[in-house]
Amino acid sequence: MELSTSAELSERLVKPNCFLNDGAFDWLYPERIQQLSRRHWTPIGVAKKSAQFLANEPGKRILDIGSGIGKFCLVGGHYNPHATFYGIEQREELHQLAEDARDITGKFNVEFIHGNFTHLDMDNYDNFYFYNAFFENLDHQDRIDHQIAYSPSLYVYYCKYFYRVLDAKPSGTRLVTFHSLGDEVPPAYHLVESSIDTLLKFWIKK
Ligand SMILES: C[S@@+](CC[C@H](N)C(=O)[O-])C[C@H]1O[C@@H](n2cnc3c(N)ncnc32)[C@H](O)[C@@H]1O
Repeated sequence: MELSTSAELSERLVKPNCFLNDGAFDWLYPERIQQLSRRHWTPIGVAKKSAQFLANEPGKRILDIGSGIGKFCLVGGHYNPHATFYGIEQREELHQLAEDARDITGKFNVEFIHGNFTHLDMDNYDNFYFYNAFFENLDHQDRIDHQIAYSPSLYVYYCKYFYRVLDAKPSGTRLVTFHSLGDEVPPAYHLVESSIDTLLKFWIKK
């Protein structure tokens, strides 16, 4: 078992640039995870543009709320070596896959934390990326798995919690939302850019 794992790993190590496109990136992960990609993980182009906006000054600490298998953070860290990308993920399996992918790609300006985002000290982060992580509590289709409890009241609780975090942040704080319903964005955040389909939004706090 261990032999095949290390053989797989070294095979993956020689894979040419996994940041080139979504297909190449997906290849870092097992097949089941690749199948979730289109629906649950940020596309490379979106991650690249969002990370560039959030890494607006050297030394910025960027947190992905619900980092999944780590795609946003790894792409962000690859293209913005002067910033540090953090991801918090509640599912242990996904967190472990993110750590494995970080080790394979050698992106050491990326850190993954296992747990619920409500347990983090938010003073440690400057800017935030949010791919509607809480929506799984409302959506009955296309769930990542059935390992955790879902409920509409959790959706409301998480949105309110994140809203208060964002509201307490200083002027100039940057936020990117992708597929968000907007429930977590306080009015002090100004929309500075949006994709044509309005799914991707760039915000700066007044
Ligand atoms: C849509 S996926 C996005 C993954 C990643 N941010 C990306 O863009 O590729 C949302 C992730 O948020 C995680 N999540 C949802 N609620 C969370 C919470 N309260 N704390 C930590 N992670 C959470 C889910 O487990 C899921 O992996």
